[in-house]
Order: sequence, then C-alpha cells, then structure tokens
Amino acid sequence: MSRVAHPAGPRHGDVLPADHPPVPPDDLNALPARIWPRRARRVDGVLMIGGADVRDLAAEFGTPVYVCDEEDVRSRCREYVDAFGPDGRVFYAAKAFCCRAVLRWVHSEGLGVDVCTGGELEVALSAGVPPEQITLHGNNKTLEELSRAVAAGVGHVVADSFEEIARLAYLAEGAAVRPNVLVRVTTGVEATTHEFMATAHDDQKFGFSLASGAADEAVRRVLACPDLEFAGLHSHIGSQIFDTAGFEVAAHRVVELAVRIRDEHGIEIAELDLGGGFGIAYTEEDDAPEVKELAQSLRAIVDGQCRAAGLARPRLTVEPGRAIVGSSTVTLYEVGTIKDVDGLRTYVSVDGGMSDNIRTALYDASYLCALASRESSAPPMLCRVVGRHCESGDIVVRHAYLPSDLATGDLLAVPATGAYCRSLASNYNHVPRPAVVAVNQGAARPILRRETLTDLLSLDLG
Ligand SMILES: Cc1ncc(COP(=O)(O)O)c(C=O)c1O
Repeated sequence: MSRVAHPAGPRHGDVLPADHPPVPPDDLNALPARIWPRRARRVDGVLMIGGADVRDLAAEFGTPVYVCDEEDVRSRCREYVDAFGPDGRVFYAAKAFCCRAVLRWVHSEGLGVDVCTGGELEVALSAGVPPEQITLHGNNKTLEELSRAVAAGVGHVVADSFEEIARLAYLAEGAAVRPNVLVRVTTGVEATTHEFMATAHDDQKFGFSLASGAADEAVRRVLACPDLEFAGLHSHIGSQIFDTAGFEVAAHRVVELAVRIRDEHGIEIAELDLGGGFGIAYTEEDDAPEVKELAQSLRAIVDGQCRAAGLARPRLTVEPGRAIVGSSTVTLYEVGTIKDVDGLRTYVSVDGGMSDNIRTALYDASYLCALASRESSAPPMLCRVVGRHCESGDIVVRHAYLPSDLATGDLLAVPATGAYCRSLASNYNHVPRPAVVAVNQGAARPILRRETLTDLLSLDLG
C-alpha cells in the first residue's frame, strides 16, 4: 500500500515550534558521505556497507544489528595519528564503543586506549593493548580498579579527587611501576553542546576546579607523594563539539595553571591532555571539523599559549571516541507496524529502539534514516521512527523522511550509530542487546554476539 506523502512537513499545523522537522532531502536514496560510512553505497538500490549487502547481513545475523565498517574505523585512526604527528598522542576513548576487536584495530593503527572502568580496562588488557598505552579515567574509581591499574602498570591514571590521590599513593607504595598521574582540571568552560555532554563548567562532578584552587592543591598533593609521578594536566570540555573556541579557553586556563606550577614547584608539565569531544555529522546540519584542521588549530592554540607564558610546549594528547567510531556504523532495523495517527503523524515502529540507541531520548539527538533493502521512487513521507519499548519517548528518529511506499518487512538503516549506542545499550523490557557485525571487503563477522533470552534468564536466580 502506498501511503500519503508529506513532502513539505507535517500535514497539520500541530507540531510545536521547537519540534519543526527539517526540509525533505532532494533524494531519499542518497547516502551523504559525511554521515554514512565512507564506503557505503547502493548496488541495484540495496545498501552495501563495507561491501556487504544489508539483506544478507539481516538474514544471517538478524535485526536489529549494528554493522561496523572496519576500514572506516581504521581510516579515521590513521587520519588522527597523521594529523597529530609524531610528537602528539592519540588515545581512543573506549567508552564510545568497547570491544576487543575494535581495540585491536585502533591499537594496530597506532592509538593508545582510554578506559574509565575496571571493565573497560579488562577488555583493553585482554585485547592485548600494552598497559603502558592505556590511560585510566573515572570520577569514582574503586580501590579494586585502581589496584588493578597500578598492578598492570597502566601508562597514566587521571586523578579526579583528593580521595583518589590518597588511594593511589597508598597503592603505589612498593608497586613495580611508579604510576604516572595526570591531574584532571575543570576549566569552567561552558562547551556548546547538550548539558549532559558538557564536562568542564564548574557545577559538575568531574575533575578539580581551577577557579577554587582545588586543581593547584591536587598538583601539590601528587608532587608530595614520592611514589607517584606527576605527569601533567588533563582537561576534557565535553562531547560533540564543532568549534575550537572552547578548547582555546580551556588550554589558556590550563597553561595558566602550568605557569603557577612552574613558579611554585620549579617544574614544567610534560604532558597536556586536552581530552576528546570532537563532533561528527549525524545529519546534514552538522558541520564537523576536518581532523587536519582540528589538529593544526589545537597545536597552534597550545603553542601560542605556551610561548606567551614562556613554557616549553608539553606533549599534546587527545582522546577522540565518537570521531573514531561514530560514523563507521549503521544500525539495521526491520519495519514492523506503520501507524497513521490521524491528523497527527505517521509512526513507523522498528524491532529495536531505546534499548539499542538511547541517545535520542537522553540527548534529544537527531539521526537520519533510510530505506536500506531497496530503492524507492515514491514521494517522501514524513514520519517518526519509534522502537518497540513501553515508553512514548522511545524514539529512534524524531523526523524521518522515508518513501511513502514503505512496508512491513523493509529494512531501515540509521547511520552514525557507532558511538554511545551499543555502549549505552540496555535490556529494557528484557530485550537482548543486538550483535555488532564487522564488515570488510564484503566479508562479515560478528565481533559482539547478540544476547539471547537464555543469557538474560541465566542472571535471574529465581
Ligand atoms: C575524559 C574523556 N575523554 C574522552 C572522551 C571522548 O569523548 P568523545 O567520544 O566525544 O570524543 C570523553 C567522553 O565523555 C571523556 O569523558
């Protein structure tokens, strides 16, 4: 059945001003390169990711399924390593998506790995990432996590509280490797991003405040401990950031602290870690920075600030997560029901939802969506793609333009779901979490298997 087309927006004027849909795309079958995995294309109308036909992937691995283009991840790693050069360091923030295969890829392309829990640390170690190329983050690391990190000899621990410095000092006594400690500072920068993705304004849980003097005191305490090595300063201003203005202000404030450290303790910081947060394009409206320009700009900022302050430039580290894996992956869903709520909107229900992508509900994130299993020349239909969970906020794509001949059983693909989707996935409504399938040169292999109901029931002790 061909449905009513809505070429220029909702049929009735009942959409709130803040809820305006974008204009329909010129071509519903297009795959804008900035948003889709770099090698995504249509062959005879069917979406191919990493050379694999999405119909075959759905048949073999089921839906929903995350399809990750390995070469896409690797190429983005190479771009970061090239752009930041031999005197910079790039660490992949594993929280974006953490599994052994991906950590092996990024490590083999020359990146270190950032972890922020004992769980992520175990994945990195078991993937064979050398401990000295791992950094441990977290605002409330347990004694066990710190102990494991110190015993394993991780390269850096990022100190986030006074309690933690005391714990580290205790654990470092007699440790084979003296822990290198970075002090995480809260620079007071209001990053232009969603409130829950901004991490350097004063009123939040991470780091030591520069404004209050806590950061200076943290450095004093690390330096006072003979078993800890003070390695430098860390700042992370937030996530999904498009311009470098926030990094400039943060670098300026961190360099001011570095000057105070030199004046008070007679040492210059060896390392400046500016964190991650580099944005990617989820929709046509997102203007993500080119990595080369980003690197040039961050280096110039740090060079300029250090020169002005009379400091030698410390080694610059960055920690991209989303920018490495975000665009590499699409989620494939099968269309279930299509419901016209008369006079309001069309709801397309798919077989996943907020359990595999919470970002729309959590951050009001915007996504694109395309018919993947075939091409269509039917006119566009404005609809809302929703999941199968018992929440009205279970929205996958708030405003999607899909062909008006969309039917049950069609496959839909949502691009840019490589970061913070599988890693934030849940079992809400006892829905098993989907598989992640890596594709490369037409071959597909699961790198995280789909959970089963047996997995879930095995946790339930009756
Ligand atoms: C300390 C730190 N580094 C790096 C990242 C990675 O951020 P993104 O994935 O936006 O690059 C985060 C994300 O929250 C973070 O908290």
